[in-house]
Amino acid sequence: MMQSRIKPLDAILATAEKHALPRSLGPVQLMLLGIGAIIGTGIFVLTAAAAQKAGPGMIWSFVIAGGVCAVAALCYSELASMVPVSGSAYTYSYAVVGELLAWMVGWALILEYAVAAAAVCVGWSGYFMGLIESSTGLALPAALSAGPAWSLSGVDFSHGLINLPAIGVALAVTALLVVGTKESATFNAVLVAIKIAALTLFIALTVPAMESGNFMPFAPNGWFGPEGTSGLGIVGAAASIFFAYVGFDAVSTAAEETRDPQRNVPIGLIGSLVICTLFYLLVTMGAIGTIGAQPTSLGVQPGSAQFARECAALAAQGAEPLVCSDEALAHVLRAINYGWAGNLVGIAANLALPSVILMMLYGQTRIFFVMARDGLLPEKLATIHPRWKTPHIVTIITGVCVAIAAALLPVGQLADISNSGTLFAFFMVAVAVMILRRRDPHRKRPFRTPAVWVVAPLAAAGCVALFVNLPFEAMLVLPVWGTIGLAVYFLYGHRHSHVGRGLIEVHEQDEDAPQPPIVEH
Ligand code: ALA
Repeated sequence: MMQSRIKPLDAILATAEKHALPRSLGPVQLMLLGIGAIIGTGIFVLTAAAAQKAGPGMIWSFVIAGGVCAVAALCYSELASMVPVSGSAYTYSYAVVGELLAWMVGWALILEYAVAAAAVCVGWSGYFMGLIESSTGLALPAALSAGPAWSLSGVDFSHGLINLPAIGVALAVTALLVVGTKESATFNAVLVAIKIAALTLFIALTVPAMESGNFMPFAPNGWFGPEGTSGLGIVGAAASIFFAYVGFDAVSTAAEETRDPQRNVPIGLIGSLVICTLFYLLVTMGAIGTIGAQPTSLGVQPGSAQFARECAALAAQGAEPLVCSDEALAHVLRAINYGWAGNLVGIAANLALPSVILMMLYGQTRIFFVMARDGLLPEKLATIHPRWKTPHIVTIITGVCVAIAAALLPVGQLADISNSGTLFAFFMVAVAVMILRRRDPHRKRPFRTPAVWVVAPLAAAGCVALFVNLPFEAMLVLPVWGTIGLAVYFLYGHRHSHVGRGLIEVHEQDEDAPQPPIVEH
């Protein structure tokens, strides 16, 4: 019976106890960890796509997406502190709702982590190309620096073929992970400082120059987009810009290393989300207020073939609206004659985005690793390299797949696909928290979600609401991907599962697990 394939929570916790890490992190370190993982392509690049979907009303989109993340984060933290082991939502689900759904959550997390890594690679590529062009005047032809445009009606290669810089950064970060590169907490703090400095500079130069006329019309696509479209309007943009907040789970997963987690985890989580939201709102207002944020035309999806044509036509007339830019923030600064500041922001994005890619790729390999160790994927994937002590096989396979996705898809579509998987995983986490409160009310919970019967249903409903407002194609990816996942499960995992074969192992110290890429110093 599928339902009976629940991994006993005690076995998972026994692994965690053997693996217990020193409790060294305080609220400030947690916030730095969160901000380091959160700020990335979302604000630096996807601001343009959000503007195409919502116009200036995207300010509300940032608020809505931030709110859903805040309630989801509170649920995530309860499970993360209760079950502080590798594998995040996958492991939690295994203990609560059983193997089949856990597999589906793990399968969806591939969308979250691997596809998000690909999105950040494409975002990095936009800034890299912009920087090269503005400093040397040279540019790679569009065919080699952008992927084609996709829609249900076909693929349009006329504005891009392959994104070579995105492939380059994906493979470079993969190589770093294969040889076991770790980011020190200090290095992470330096990158956070660079990102915060870049956004502060942006705000300082744009906010004083805002003009109220640029905010009009405020919501050209309304709340839900014109009739007959999907994923547009303020709520559609919220579903996309949700990507800008993803990464806060880095804080939840550090719960076991946190001093006084009941107090510090929510401070770290909510603190990093609030700080990011404030920056995001000020940055968005500065961008809109200086150069405007009107869509090319109403009802047109960013990344679509029609959108590419409209942007090409506008460029031919010498117009460069925010919505068409691949390096939104640098573009705004250059457009208001702060070319030097645009270049500085470009350099900051180039320096800081690879660390977001590193965290996402790392998260992915860790989940594959745990799934392989549970027998749901071939165990060979979990092989650790004798010298580098990293799961090199799964890292290389993941890196190559990420490079292919980054080469061929536009950033907005990758982010939307990633969101579909993340929203599913967060939905499951919110449900799992409620089930566990009922089924196992007395188990020790180092962190308890406050007002759980309000917060968890809100988180679940918020995830559903954002999911159904993704573009139709991105929504479709989840069931298609899920069906492939089911096939893989019944062809392989079901038969090889350790739990299914009655092997409930406690992993000594988790010692075979790869170590996280951020280490305390
Ligand atoms: N939140 C991360 C970003 O925006 C994934 O790049």
